[in-house]
Amino acid sequence: MDIIADRMKDIPTYLFMHLRSKIKRIEATGGDCISLSIGDPDKPTPAYIIETLREVVLDPGNHQYPTDEQKGMLAFRESVSRWYQRKYGVTLSPENEVLALGGSKEGIHNFMMAVVNPGDIVLITNPGYPGYRANIPIAGGRTYEVPLLEKNDFLPVIEDIPEDICRKAKAFFFNYPNNPTGACANRNFFSRLVAWAKKRQIILVHDNPYSEIVFSGCEKLSLLQIPGAKDICVEFNSLSKYYNMTGWRIGMVVGNEKIIEAMCKFKENVTSGVFNAIQLASIKAMDEGDEDIQSMLGIYGRRRKMALKAFDQMGISVKPGMGTFYLWLPVPNGQSSMEFATKLLDEVCVLVTAGTAYGEYGEGYFRLSLTLPDDRLAEALERMKQSIDKGHPATAR
Ligand SMILES: Cc1ncc(COP(=O)(O)O)c(C=O)c1O
Repeated sequence: MDIIADRMKDIPTYLFMHLRSKIKRIEATGGDCISLSIGDPDKPTPAYIIETLREVVLDPGNHQYPTDEQKGMLAFRESVSRWYQRKYGVTLSPENEVLALGGSKEGIHNFMMAVVNPGDIVLITNPGYPGYRANIPIAGGRTYEVPLLEKNDFLPVIEDIPEDICRKAKAFFFNYPNNPTGACANRNFFSRLVAWAKKRQIILVHDNPYSEIVFSGCEKLSLLQIPGAKDICVEFNSLSKYYNMTGWRIGMVVGNEKIIEAMCKFKENVTSGVFNAIQLASIKAMDEGDEDIQSMLGIYGRRRKMALKAFDQMGISVKPGMGTFYLWLPVPNGQSSMEFATKLLDEVCVLVTAGTAYGEYGEGYFRLSLTLPDDRLAEALERMKQSIDKGHPATAR
């Protein structure tokens, strides 16, 4: 008897699980590995958020199933509405257009299960966040990958998606500011996308957990700013990256009421909701944390400059994307992405993510995350320089 379900054959081991075990193996043999691979902020959650959690966790009223209010606590959903209104001028009904999630990653799965029928095509970008690709076959859907190319500023060319694919497509997942490329979209692109999707009745799923991590020259955007977007769109967002809360598992999906309702129905049968104490501490973050977002941007901006200067000295020229805390860089010296990442790990114990981990259009690139202390970043950059110089003294500057 085959104990494991057939659908598991289509599900890859999650990328960062592989990388984490690789780091552990190196460290177990005394190696000092510096990881630039995982987008997990190094700074702690701000103290007043932890303090709020400490207070509310003592209230027994918060110890029971968080199912009184199905879409998450009303107070949490009201805070999400205030946050979206303040930041993007988007008006959301806390009753119908907001659902609390255990992180946006959970929402991606819920969406697939609530919306995608077996055989439906789901469009995703390539390169793209691995969470989309893995969840499509779980729902019995089929994947169609839309390339993101540097010559198009890493934006999808929607006119190139064949009409017969569009007719079978149920949804399109995309994300700007973009992981892994760091590219940002603008309002004009979002408007065109909404018009294109409405005409073809394709649901747009904008995964927006980096909406606040934008450097000068780009606008912070929500897809829901586009008039009429709610007719056909939902948007995920998350507290993970802005308030250093990746471990807390809290996020939200906002937008189309019907989709939110269906996702809620699926979710309440699976997770019963997010711990109330975490929702209450998150309200504090969303209502009072704007200064923390500013200081976070200062930190990543500083590291970004440091890294770009170092890569310039290594002869790796980059036109960096203006969003996220990632840098998407060309692999030097004609190596493949995987050869380069493996060589760095073997030679100097620095872990970067090969571009192909995000799809075949990531070939020729690697991704680096700026979520580590400045001194460790400086050390990693120095080691990378040594490795690149060693392999190709003639081409390194
Ligand atoms: C594009 C994208 N979507 C979703 C997530 C998951 O975020 P969360 O912590 O809210 O589940 C990530 C995390 O790296 C991401 O990069």
